Amino acid sequence: MEAVLSVKNLAAYFYTRDRIVKAVDGVSLEIRSGTVTAIVGESGCGKTVTAMSILGLLAFPGRIVAGEILLNGRDLRRLTLKQLQEVRGGEIAMIFQDPVNALNPVLTVGTQMIEAVVCHRRAAGAEARALVLECMGKLGLPAPDKMFGMYPFQLSGGMCQRIMIATALSLSPSILIADEPTTALDVTVQAQILDELCRLKREFGTGILLITHDLGVVAEIADVVYIMQGGLIVESGTVYEIFDRPVHPYTKRLLQSFF
Ligand SMILES: Nc1ncnc2c1ncn2[C@@H]1O[C@H](COP(=O)(O)OP(=O)(O)OP(=O)(O)O)[C@@H](O)[C@H]1O
Ligand SMILES: [Mg+2]
Repeated sequence: MEAVLSVKNLAAYFYTRDRIVKAVDGVSLEIRSGTVTAIVGESGCGKTVTAMSILGLLAFPGRIVAGEILLNGRDLRRLTLKQLQEVRGGEIAMIFQDPVNALNPVLTVGTQMIEAVVCHRRAAGAEARALVLECMGKLGLPAPDKMFGMYPFQLSGGMCQRIMIATALSLSPSILIADEPTTALDVTVQAQILDELCRLKREFGTGILLITHDLGVVAEIADVVYIMQGGLIVESGTVYEIFDRPVHPYTKRLLQSFF
């Protein structure tokens, strides 16, 4: 199957006052439909910078200095800001580690979800509301009608993350980028969120880029794994290849510390 998103030789540096931090320095990876692709690596290796670069959200003093980010063959680096904003949240949706703060505290979750749907022209008016409620139902959120009128602070972290996933679902993106989506949640809720990501992949063919340092999560839901160290991909393969026949010494060390 063709890759939906293909990153080629991406380099992203931070130009700080006293030095250049080469956070990402030649990363290539592919994301396919209906597949969970994981990036794994220790803190500071460049996972989030990779995700932010894909989304065009890298902030000053960070800058992409080289590479291509091809979404269905179209280089996102060549788009105008307006075009990029349409891609972001439209074809590529994202969820983050801290779902409570990712939501707007002064709007009800329903209002925010409808805003996303309308902004990306998936539906309008009563249809938008129906779509949002349908997506909440699909994700197994209890009493969507009631939750629709609630504020983020009235919900648990796990519920907020489900709202984020339901929002992503309502936009029917081809790619979902999830940066440590379960780190802030307790273990049972973690498992439910992972189940829901799997459903997104299975039922809607979404290609998921999962960023994590947790090999347990990788073993559970990833199909393809990229091992990252110091701004580089040092090894990649199917989840079976990585767990059964790791080649790179860093991958071997990661696995040893896991088992
Ligand atoms: N604003 C910034 N200025 C300078 N350096 C930065 C900035 N943001 C990130 N970096 C550096 O870029 C590198 C990669 O950071 P990144 O956030 O991508 O790591 P990560 O793999 O996501 O780590 P974690 O697992 O802790 O989330 C790190 O060395 C970090 O110090
Ligand atoms: Mg990170």
